[in-house]
Amino acid sequence: MATSFPVSEKILIIDFGSQVTQLIARRIRESGVYSEIHPCFRIDKAFIEDYAPNAIILSGGPASVMADEAPTIDPIVFECGVPVLGICYGQQLMCHALGGTVEDSDEQEFGRAILEVTDHCGLFHRVWLPGTVPEVWMSHGDRVTGLPEGFRTVATSRGAPFAAIADDERKFYGVQFHPEVVHTKDGSRLLSNFVHHVAGCRGDWTMAAFRDAEIKKIRAQVGDGRVICGLSGGVDSSVAAVLIHEAIGDQLNCIFVDHGLLRQGEVEEVEKVFRDRFNISLVVRDAKDMFLDKLDGVSDPETKRKIIGGTFIDVFEEEAAKIGGADFLAQGTLYPDVIESVSPFGGPSATIKSHHNVGGLPERMNMKLVEPLRELFKDEVRDLGRELGMPHEIVGRHPFPGPGLAIRMPGDFDREKLEMLRQADAIYLDEIRKAGLYDSIWQAFAVLLPVRTVGVMGDARTYEHVCALRAVTSTDGMTADSYPFEHAFVSGVATRIINEVRGINRVVYDVTSKPPGTIEWE
Ligand code: XMP
Repeated sequence: MATSFPVSEKILIIDFGSQVTQLIARRIRESGVYSEIHPCFRIDKAFIEDYAPNAIILSGGPASVMADEAPTIDPIVFECGVPVLGICYGQQLMCHALGGTVEDSDEQEFGRAILEVTDHCGLFHRVWLPGTVPEVWMSHGDRVTGLPEGFRTVATSRGAPFAAIADDERKFYGVQFHPEVVHTKDGSRLLSNFVHHVAGCRGDWTMAAFRDAEIKKIRAQVGDGRVICGLSGGVDSSVAAVLIHEAIGDQLNCIFVDHGLLRQGEVEEVEKVFRDRFNISLVVRDAKDMFLDKLDGVSDPETKRKIIGGTFIDVFEEEAAKIGGADFLAQGTLYPDVIESVSPFGGPSATIKSHHNVGGLPERMNMKLVEPLRELFKDEVRDLGRELGMPHEIVGRHPFPGPGLAIRMPGDFDREKLEMLRQADAIYLDEIRKAGLYDSIWQAFAVLLPVRTVGVMGDARTYEHVCALRAVTSTDGMTADSYPFEHAFVSGVATRIINEVRGINRVVYDVTSKPPGTIEWE
């Protein structure tokens, strides 16, 4: 199905199963042009006519074009008269389809590689001149060994004699390297050249335009119906709520369930922003005792999640009934949740994922969904929030899991430990903010461990809990690296926590990356 968003310029990214296809879409959108990812097996003449792309990008992928079951492409892609850029597998497929040759290579290249630019072409416009030797990121076994008619080589590398190829007349380009990853230093400029200089797009993808179009769409979908939105204090549900409120005003009611597992000051902050600043109808339900009583003594992480999810639905349903129900449920589903993934053999590898923030609620309450962020990446949601005038404390906020602090205290749940954890977490975040580091970190939090260790405070022996500190950098939460704090910073935080939080006498820093670890401890 083609886009529902009314932009006049659209790039179609055809996915062949690369791990980094999403990055192509993000780089193109960062250059101001709307782009969508669609799996290779959906593409045919009707699709192309309906979508009407200004240009097409063929992604990389793990298969070999010579393999029997390799994903292929409908020839319409090369016949519909728009510029085409093939990346890695996409380049090989383009050559294969247009009469060139592709072979296995003994000289595989993985990671950084040096390119030698040998000629001018539209893709390199004002970025690379002949003779330059830029650093790029490669990941290939096969390589192009013979060019289709009309193409010429414009860059080579040690392992890929046809590392970049061009047919300026038909506006077909192929690169063996990956311009979408940050390790290819000029990669974004090359992609921007492809959509602007080669395909002639001016760039009409802005958050101001999205906001206006989406407001019209929400009004058309909802009519005079009523919408309920479950707020969590997180970025996605908050931005969705403010946008929907701008579209339909008082037809929106928000419900915030306080399960007692939130960070310090969070409930008050949400009330202040939504009720006072945006004048949004908001019910805050204090359900702390109900959640905390049910969790008392529970240690298994999945059981904790199930208790919290189930209780959340019960409470939400109760509150929704009190305000007279609704026709629609708003959800902060993002674009990465709706992109269909591709297996190495071209077919679907999984059904489309959908968000279950309030798992099962729409079916149970017979509500339709309003999902105004379905076309956006996380960083675009933050831009939209800024466009809507939302405060930085909400828009720039670190992600926070639905089950809250309950999954940051491995072992038996109890209220006393919960309070220790909340205090330690608040001190840690306070120090991070004071040091000006909050915005360079994807997520930072404290974890309370179910072990006690011996310490000495004053002249007395202590036997108290260990607190672990976690901070990671990430772009999407799928992979993550531990944040490299200065030693003095971590020890300063440790001193404050041990001095100020009764019950903790030791602090450690978690240096595990994801994979093999996960971001949360449970
Ligand atoms: P992990 O721990 O899997 O976390 O590396 C990746 C991201 O997901 C968040 N997370 C959750 N979010 N409900 C949520 O809404 C959950 O049960 C949950 N578990 C993890 C986590 O905070 C991180 O941002």
